[in-house]
Amino acid sequence: MQNTLKKPTLALAIAGSMFMAACNQSAPKSNTMTDSTTTATVKLPAAARFERTIDGKKTELFILKNKNGAEAAITNYGAHLISLLVPNKAGEITDVVLGFDDIEGFQKAAGAYYGATIGRYGNRLAKGKFTLDGKEYTLFTNNGPNTLHGGKKGFDSMVWDAKQTDSATVELSYLSKDMEEGFPGNLKVKVIYTLTDDNALKVSYEATTDKTTVVNLTNHAYFNLNGQGTGSVLEHSVKIDADAYTPVDSTLIPTGKIEPVKGTPFDFTAAATIGSRIEQDNIQLKDGKGYDHNYVLNKHDISTPVATVVGDKSGIKMEVFTEEPGMQFYTGNFMNGTNTLKGGAKDEHRTAFAMETQHYPDSPNQPAFPSTVLKPGAVYKTVTIYKFSK
Ligand code: BGC
Repeated sequence: MQNTLKKPTLALAIAGSMFMAACNQSAPKSNTMTDSTTTATVKLPAAARFERTIDGKKTELFILKNKNGAEAAITNYGAHLISLLVPNKAGEITDVVLGFDDIEGFQKAAGAYYGATIGRYGNRLAKGKFTLDGKEYTLFTNNGPNTLHGGKKGFDSMVWDAKQTDSATVELSYLSKDMEEGFPGNLKVKVIYTLTDDNALKVSYEATTDKTTVVNLTNHAYFNLNGQGTGSVLEHSVKIDADAYTPVDSTLIPTGKIEPVKGTPFDFTAAATIGSRIEQDNIQLKDGKGYDHNYVLNKHDISTPVATVVGDKSGIKMEVFTEEPGMQFYTGNFMNGTNTLKGGAKDEHRTAFAMETQHYPDSPNQPAFPSTVLKPGAVYKTVTIYKFSK
């Protein structure tokens, strides 16, 4: 389909980074955070708490490690990213994603999609309907009048087949059967997580179908670059290489317009903190309860970052690279402290943000948007990279 796999041109300076790790502070200091600005846990969850049988299939925890001391934890339940440990500016290991200590935590908070792989259609489909080749399909509406992130039971709640192919890579596969959640076609999906030696988490997606369908896959990691459980992300600085975004109606469905960000609180073409304009009197911010909007990315060739975020306390910088034309920037506006995260932290309001690389919301109902149609014989392939430095 429209996504073609290109080799990332990011330099993987393995030897260089190992040399750096050996001679300066980039080597992680310890596994226990002592910084008084944070109470974050930096331990990976216990594998045993992910070993369950769900829908007759075994679930487990996979740990990826790179040569630099970074680690990632992933489960085949919903292909969730659970933890991502990278060093902060003081060289201390910091867990930059929100998640739970056990599978039950993810099951209970399913509607929040912490770290989940989202499909078959990420983001919203208006009124739970779309038409393909003249046939109307009706989906479960799980978000007011709309369908969000795949419907009643999306890919985030499925048990995937998984195989760890080396110490830094896990491959997850899932067969979404014809008409599962109302979508046509048997869709074979593969998601590969790789933790590279330059402290980047690469997420590669692939899918094929036997009937024409729509596909929009993304990852729903909630990041706090100061560390999970360290409070608000409003002081994080954000830059997004997008001159335009897709404004929405009051149910967060795009109006179809592509509007310039210039002169609006949506302009992150120059770095600004998340909180600097989030409370401005703006109807889009009001309806989204903050930022919950799709950015129309200027470039999406995976060679230049589409977004750069810096944690104010940790100095951790995250760069996002993607082949997707859009990115939903969501500032945890619906988080309200009801869930208990890893190490007992609460998911308080705006204590994380998500950057969901994807095709635009509601594309199947919006002919002017890039197409999300996948036909038999074509291969859906797309890559997103989250790269961490300090
Ligand atoms: C949506 C939000 C939603 C959140 C749920 C985001 O992708 O845009 O509106 O509340 O997912 O986790």
